[in-house]
Amino acid sequence: MVLKIIKFPNPILRKKAKLVKKVTPVIIQLIDDMIETMHAAPGVGLAAPQVKKSIQVIVVDPGSGAIALVNPKLLESSGCQIFTEGCLCLPGVEAPVERASHVKVKGLDRDGEEITITTDGFLATILQHEIDHLEGIVFIDRVKDPSLIKYVKPAKEKKEELL
Ligand code: NI
Repeated sequence: MVLKIIKFPNPILRKKAKLVKKVTPVIIQLIDDMIETMHAAPGVGLAAPQVKKSIQVIVVDPGSGAIALVNPKLLESSGCQIFTEGCLCLPGVEAPVERASHVKVKGLDRDGEEITITTDGFLATILQHEIDHLEGIVFIDRVKDPSLIKYVKPAKEKKEELL
């Protein structure tokens, strides 16, 4: 089921998301709905607070298939890269964001098994953007120079990659 994506500045986007105690069938259903919602948007990542669930669940899909992570934790980060980012909660807004270029992230997968993802490039940026959502941080918070924030056409008119 495609879920409704809330828009900034909804206060849910500023809350710290709660840890998931167990990957129950309800959580699995949420993961599946979030993947469907991300693909329908279309976007390359989605965090549960964006669909009004203030819990630690993210899904990402850099183009090679969807990955779900429950309680994701950034274990290591290094290097530096800049990608122009957008967000499904801020349609039509984009800005360059500097983030770590290499990350190691741990979490639970859809089966409740522990997984570790070590990656770089665009997927590293997507993971950091989505983990930020769980901390109540949105990408524009990380833009060093506000004059770099651009207002473009609404997302649905563009085949833009949104996170
Ligand atoms: Ni976002």
